[in-house]
Amino acid sequence: MEIKELRIGNITIPNNVLMAPLAGYTCYPFRILCQELGAGLCFTEMVSCNGLKYKDKATQKLLFTTPDEKIKAAQLLGSDPRIMEKMARSDYLIPFDIIDINMGCPVPNVFKSGEGSSLMGDLKRASSIIKGCKRSGKAVTVKCRTGLKEDSMIAAEFAKMCEDSGADMISIHGRSRNMMYEGVPYYDQIEQAKSVAKIPVIANGGIFSKEDADKMMNLTGADGVMLARYGFENPFIFSELTNKEIKKDKYTVISEQIELASRCYDETYTIYYIRKLASYCMKKLKGTKQYKAELYKCGNIEELKSIVEKIFNVLVD
Ligand SMILES: Cc1cc2nc3c(=O)[nH]c(=O)nc-3n(C[C@H](O)[C@H](O)[C@H](O)COP(=O)(O)O)c2cc1C
Repeated sequence: MEIKELRIGNITIPNNVLMAPLAGYTCYPFRILCQELGAGLCFTEMVSCNGLKYKDKATQKLLFTTPDEKIKAAQLLGSDPRIMEKMARSDYLIPFDIIDINMGCPVPNVFKSGEGSSLMGDLKRASSIIKGCKRSGKAVTVKCRTGLKEDSMIAAEFAKMCEDSGADMISIHGRSRNMMYEGVPYYDQIEQAKSVAKIPVIANGGIFSKEDADKMMNLTGADGVMLARYGFENPFIFSELTNKEIKKDKYTVISEQIELASRCYDETYTIYYIRKLASYCMKKLKGTKQYKAELYKCGNIEELKSIVEKIFNVLVD
């Protein structure tokens, strides 16, 4: 795929290969890793505006960042335009350059409260949310799907609404809400959205290799791609796609993630995060079943380090 800079409002990001927001995965250390490996932009996982409004500590923790994260994008989840605007303008969001609005989450609880993908069924409300967030003065982006159901896809109409409401970029997961996370993405829907929008259109869904990224770009004409599950499984995909030379191996990268996570979070969270990262990264390594069990049993950072060493330093892929 062609690598190029992208303009999001008045922010320029170094390239058009993005890492998606992933709840429970795209914490600060992981975003720093993706940035180092070449991703043009990373997002926090979805952060509930109601959680922020009620000063929930766990929600606030999701917004942890430092100046080492060069361009900071926070994803907000909510359905009430006034609360969304208030939180976008709040002190919590001060460090962030970009506010991404979640209009794609299909999970029943989220959907039932009128949040996430439910907004694809209420364009008026979706538009007020974008306009309200824009009043924060920050760049605003939207992440959505192609529609609620496969027989009523609206990617182009929705993209136009986002642009007319002031959005600076739109990332489209090429599946409808009822498809959840499976099935071939509707490339034509993303292509149609791209043909009506002037703002950058980013294509997401089902990219699990360099070839898939090329295919996504060719079939949609999008301005860039957004990796999600595969970005977590193989973060080196960012260096492969952007031709960035990286001399580190998986073992070094995961060891550095343990150090960074330990500096930012408590031991419990660090173990929780590294277990997930390590088990995703060892998916393609043979003979690792017994190590995976050990990984899930380990109770402190020292044990974690030693099992990570066994998996990634001794069993080389
Ligand atoms: C575990 C998990 C958590 C996710 N969390 C979020 C989220 O917080 N915000 C969001 O916009 N999308 C979220 N998504 C959707 C992804 O960003 C992406 O759109 C989707 O996985 C499709 O891309 P893929 O097929 O390349 O994985 C999540 C997906 C998964 C599997």
